[in-house]
Amino acid sequence: MTATSATLKTQTASAFDVERVRADFPILRLKLDGKPLVYLDNAASSQMPQPVIDRLVRYQTTQHANIHRGVHTLSETATFEYEEARRKLQRFINAREEREVIFTSGTTDAINLVMHGYGRKFIGAGDEIVLTTLEHHSNIVPWQMLAEERGAKIRVTPINDAGELIIGEYEKLFNERTQFVGVTHVSNALGTINPVKRMIEFAHARGVPVLVDGAQAAPHMKVDVQELDCDFYAFSGHKLCGPTGIGILYGKAATLERMQPFKGGGDMILSVTFEKTTYNAIPHKFEAGTPPIAAAIGLGAAVDYLSGIGMDTIAAHELRLLDCATEQISRMPGLRIIGTAGKKAAVLSFEIDGVHPHDVGTLLNQEGVAVRTGHHCAQPVMRRFKVPATSRASFAFYNNMADVDALIAGIRAVQKVFA
Ligand code: ALA
Repeated sequence: MTATSATLKTQTASAFDVERVRADFPILRLKLDGKPLVYLDNAASSQMPQPVIDRLVRYQTTQHANIHRGVHTLSETATFEYEEARRKLQRFINAREEREVIFTSGTTDAINLVMHGYGRKFIGAGDEIVLTTLEHHSNIVPWQMLAEERGAKIRVTPINDAGELIIGEYEKLFNERTQFVGVTHVSNALGTINPVKRMIEFAHARGVPVLVDGAQAAPHMKVDVQELDCDFYAFSGHKLCGPTGIGILYGKAATLERMQPFKGGGDMILSVTFEKTTYNAIPHKFEAGTPPIAAAIGLGAAVDYLSGIGMDTIAAHELRLLDCATEQISRMPGLRIIGTAGKKAAVLSFEIDGVHPHDVGTLLNQEGVAVRTGHHCAQPVMRRFKVPATSRASFAFYNNMADVDALIAGIRAVQKVFA
């Protein structure tokens, strides 16, 4: 028997009090044109709970100064809090050492850091970089820029009709010229959870380092970089209840030490003369200039908040929402789910027959339901499924079954308009 929305609601409530969590998010109390906000665009950016907002206010009102530069009390406090945030992030992903966590402006910045710092130093003419069809543009374009500059080649792991990587094909792409692998942990367009551990093992057996784009994974599941054994792992703060303009790059210390800096400037040096500059140790070698101090501290508060709930609890709740929405949408005539992988995170991309996704988004918005429509910065995925765009509902742990019901009712309203 299929679980109904009501039975799932009961199970969810017994495991996790979603209404109590929702009370922490002021924005969820918003009404737009008189309709309660149903926020299902979490893969683009998630919302911020009051404890994180409070932490930013406390920092700005009582602790702010520049870091690593002053002996006065506020500068020492801000430096401590910034470095403490790094330690929180280290624990959040179980990195071995705090110096393996580099603050960046987000996932894109982190991947560009690896491209410049590692790629430009170690990848040359004729070398090959293995990516996948599921990558976000941010894990494609930097590598194309490098390939063009260095005369390297991009090889692409294909996907099947469910939106899963064809691992046999991934393995066949390796040869003696393979120098690097970039793979997303979770597809932002389809929600597919990739078997990254197995892919890393395979690459490492051939001496090839792997960067994992964790932008859509870190907010939804427990990430353990030591268990994955990845060489690099990147994610953004604003997708996991933190501020915009902050993210991290995790890198193995030995690898980061071998890399060249990405950006030059203050704080990333030990000494500067016009003849020669000596670089600072990691992580500072990669954090030139005044960093986003407040945002880093806010991100520290965000991972505290998520850890307080528990990433396994978050994953289980989101899976219930996804299962319930998937089950209902698959029974609706005139709808096609794009991305039906066996292992998915809380992303539901779909098409409604005869309705352009932008119209779907506009009409859902009139019902108070916020989804993303478009190519999701993943045009190769769209091309693979022969669609210009999809409508994408993406869940967070603060969504509830009423949000799923609102999505389904909104889709019915769209179908009625276009009937
Ligand atoms: N990368 C974000 C998304 O998938 C913006 O929506």
